[in-house]
Amino acid sequence: MAVTLQLRFAWLCLLLPCIALSANFPSGVSKSECLNRVFWIWVDKDFVGSREWYLEALNATGTPVQLDDDLASQCGYSITKDIYGNLEMRISFLACWVLNVNDLQFDLKVQLLVRQNGVGFIPYPVSLSCRITDPWNVREVLCEENFMEVSVRRIVPWVVDWMTEDLQAVWPVTEGGISQSWQVEFQMPDLSIITVSAAKAQRMGYGLNATATRVVFRAPYNTSESRIIKNGSYHLEVILAKMYYSQPLIRLIVDTTTACPADPPMITNTSIFWLTPAILSPLVLDLVAYRDRGVSMGVDGRLLDPSVIATNGYSLSKNATTVNVTVPIGAPGGYTESDIVNNTYGTTYHIHLLLVHHWRGATADTTRHSAIKPINTPFMPQVPIFINRTVPETRYFNVSLGNFFPDVGLKAFIIKKVMVTLDEASRRGFRVGTVDNKNGTSAYVLQVPFGDPLVEQKYLEGNKRVYTLYVTYILTLLSKKKDFTYTDVVECVLKDVVPPTYDKTCTNNSLILNMTRGNMDMYWIPYIRDLPLTQALAASQNYKITQRASTLLIEVPLFSVGLVYEDITLRGIRARLDFALKDNKTLQVRSSYSFACNFPTDRLLLCLPNGTMKATVLSLDTKPRFDPRETHLKDPTCKPQEANNDLALFSFSVFSCGTTRQFVGGYLVYENEVTFDRKGLPPIKPIISRNSTYRLTLRCRYPLTDTQQVVGKYNTTIIGRRGISTDFSNEQAKVLRKRDENTQVSDLKVARDRTFTSFYHPGDFPLLIQQEESLYFEVDERRRGTSPTRAVRLQECWATPSHRTDGFPQWDLIMDGCAQKGTNYSVDLVQGPPSRFQLKIEGGLSEQYQLFVYCQGLVCDSLLESDRCQTACNEAKPGVWRRTVPVAEPYELLSAGPIRIGPGEAEVQYRHVEEKSWSTWIWLLSVGLAFIAAFTVGSVILALRLFVC
Ligand SMILES: *[C@@H]1O[C@H](CO)[C@@H](O)[C@H](O)[C@H]1NC(C)=O
Ligand SMILES: *[C@@H]1O[C@H](CO)[C@@H](O)[C@H](O)[C@H]1NC(C)=O
Ligand SMILES: *[C@@H]1O[C@H](CO)[C@@H](O)[C@H](O)[C@H]1NC(C)=O
Ligand SMILES: *[C@@H]1O[C@H](CO)[C@@H](O)[C@H](O)[C@H]1NC(C)=O
Ligand SMILES: *[C@@H]1O[C@H](CO)[C@@H](O)[C@H](O)[C@H]1NC(C)=O
Repeated sequence: MAVTLQLRFAWLCLLLPCIALSANFPSGVSKSECLNRVFWIWVDKDFVGSREWYLEALNATGTPVQLDDDLASQCGYSITKDIYGNLEMRISFLACWVLNVNDLQFDLKVQLLVRQNGVGFIPYPVSLSCRITDPWNVREVLCEENFMEVSVRRIVPWVVDWMTEDLQAVWPVTEGGISQSWQVEFQMPDLSIITVSAAKAQRMGYGLNATATRVVFRAPYNTSESRIIKNGSYHLEVILAKMYYSQPLIRLIVDTTTACPADPPMITNTSIFWLTPAILSPLVLDLVAYRDRGVSMGVDGRLLDPSVIATNGYSLSKNATTVNVTVPIGAPGGYTESDIVNNTYGTTYHIHLLLVHHWRGATADTTRHSAIKPINTPFMPQVPIFINRTVPETRYFNVSLGNFFPDVGLKAFIIKKVMVTLDEASRRGFRVGTVDNKNGTSAYVLQVPFGDPLVEQKYLEGNKRVYTLYVTYILTLLSKKKDFTYTDVVECVLKDVVPPTYDKTCTNNSLILNMTRGNMDMYWIPYIRDLPLTQALAASQNYKITQRASTLLIEVPLFSVGLVYEDITLRGIRARLDFALKDNKTLQVRSSYSFACNFPTDRLLLCLPNGTMKATVLSLDTKPRFDPRETHLKDPTCKPQEANNDLALFSFSVFSCGTTRQFVGGYLVYENEVTFDRKGLPPIKPIISRNSTYRLTLRCRYPLTDTQQVVGKYNTTIIGRRGISTDFSNEQAKVLRKRDENTQVSDLKVARDRTFTSFYHPGDFPLLIQQEESLYFEVDERRRGTSPTRAVRLQECWATPSHRTDGFPQWDLIMDGCAQKGTNYSVDLVQGPPSRFQLKIEGGLSEQYQLFVYCQGLVCDSLLESDRCQTACNEAKPGVWRRTVPVAEPYELLSAGPIRIGPGEAEVQYRHVEEKSWSTWIWLLSVGLAFIAAFTVGSVILALRLFVC
């Protein structure tokens, strides 16, 4: 409608010089009514929208007069908003430019001008004609939002019979007449009296008129002639004024005193209290004659029956001093508006009250006093009420969020960070509904099945799991187009977990785990021992994994990573599979199953991660058979661990039994040999005698890159001991590495004998010593610093074949200030200062060995820090690594070397790595497998050779 109007205007403006044509409001946009001696006009807020607008009155000749705020209050116009925000114009029957027919009928013509883009302001005329239904009282007072108006009957009964006289003749009211013959007398707040002409009073902002039967006086609030007076406990705004009509012989005085309640209403969280004085004393001249004729209240200009007042929950009461109008916030008749302030949901409540008071004063004084009071409560935050009505057995969440007024709409949900629109919600099988409350508010209900993927499930223990719904409601203020959210979390614990069950099968060469799935294990990660069962692991180790709807079958070959070899003897191999399901977040074990299978020992070569080789030798491999009990390794003292007629089982460390070490390509190859001496065999022919000895090569390969990784692993595992990590991001490591660069400065002197009087010089290195010899070390105090009181307390010392502090292997010499003893060496601390110790190598080395000795020393001031500098061993609990000193301490790294230990028969036992990375495991086992093959081939060749012989 609005669009067609606009078009019509545009067209007219093209053809004619633009003349102010008017349009009618589209139907339903405007509404008007005559209520309580006031014209009421409403225009829908959506029609005006954000466009500019103003109101014009049309005077008797049809000329428009634009109403600004001052003119409006002077002339009896209130231009305001109703409780819903629509335009509301209230115009007194006695206002300017109202066509008044004998004070009985009133005709109003105004127009609302609304700016239309490109066209300018378009006037929308409104005309309204009202008749009064109840006769005018002698005095009527109207307290409007922006003015006070009093009108008084101007007939003096004993002077004129007003019914018969020509009223206009008695007191002319023609234009200009009021200005010339009327005067206004104000009693000023300081009690002085000023008298001004009607024309002057109008210039001061007052509205004056004389109608057929009445004298009208209108005043804006807060003029300099007005005052606030106290009436009992309440306040009134009062203008004490009299209007005079003076003519020769006649002087008429009309009391146009006006008073309006000035106290703002009291607003609590639940109610509005509007308290006004029961007797408006400035308007009552004779209290003795005063007769109250009752008060009534109304809303939006309409007076209400007591029954409606009660139904709506209002209360209107009056005692000697007070009229008490009480309205509960949210009561009908008012309007609750939702809003978001500071991201908080809240409401404001609007109501336009009317209070009408009748009384009878002295003779001929009946007064009707009406006050219109628009009330807007301040913003009150409302905490949305979230209710969890979930019944666990129903297996769905049932929650509701309320209570919202109709100007709030539900837009969507966010469930576990996923946006779920209302359409999407119903597609997913959620149920979204509204529950309407009695007071006009509603709550939004949401039902989400436990089984939905957006519901989080967490295993607790036993058969308990917790379902969690993370829900955010996205709501919107429909009229303001503002969104807001509410978030809550609901949990529900149910005992409905079915754990997985397990079964096992042992085959000739594998272990099979058969798991029947429960209803929670899809959230858990399967582990074989400490390894997550990934596709890569399964592929590299030839696991066979079969997944069916409810079962999981895992077949693990005998020689593969993940198995634990509980026992390897000639009786057999006992291999164990440890299976576990771990929580995908906490990695807690949720379910586990272990079982072991026995396998024949048969042909075997295993290179175990702890550096042990295990191998079997079968007498059947040769012809004629040999006696396995008579076999030995390169070191003839290394006999089988077990042997019988058919089979010998060797188990030895790669660092013993004459095992040789070789670098081949990228590998470190350990090799030994099983030998059988046919003692009783006579050496008949050379060829037979050459072949008469059974030899079988056993070989384990370690990739060098992996070995380095192992070293790295080793260091990170017990970081702090040697402190060197391959992890460069580690602060600790950086500190030590820096010191590491200084290792060429040898601060550890090596003494020639136990007297510590003579030392080797740098040029003597590498030192060459023999086994069973002792080495004497002393901290070179002179080389560090100038202070004679500085001392170095040896905290840790170790030996390693490498020129790097983190070389591998390592032998502990001093730990936490305590001398250590190994299988092949021992250390003794020697009384200092300076700090000294003695290293005795007791066993021999299978090959010439080079050693570097490193120490970490705590630098301290021996005078100030005598406690810390004590050299006494601080062993607290044996076996427990009790290093607590952070690396940030002033440590010095000391070193000495290289020292070569001369050749000899005896061995030095290697310290073996206990912790190995799993990748090494994999590799070692695959090497192990590879060599079983090699072994078999080797044996066959050997057998053939013997057969030929
Ligand atoms: C209406 O207003 C116009 C312009 O102000 C004025 O000329 C005219 O006299 C007025 N008519 C009446 C009846 O007041
Ligand atoms: C005064 O009253 C007369 C008649 O009642 C009316 O026509 C006129 O417009 C009024 N004038 C003012 C300024 O209120
Ligand atoms: C009338 O009511 C008001 C407020 O309810 C109270 O303060 C006052 O004391 C009452 N006066 C009498 C006379 O009861
Ligand atoms: C006004 O009336 C209400 C309802 O009867 C009452 O609760 C309230 O206390 C009264 N106010 C005063 C100030 O008396
Ligand atoms: C909004 O928050 C700011 C800062 O917290 C505060 O200063 C302001 O008063 C708040 N406004 C309302 C309406 O609560």
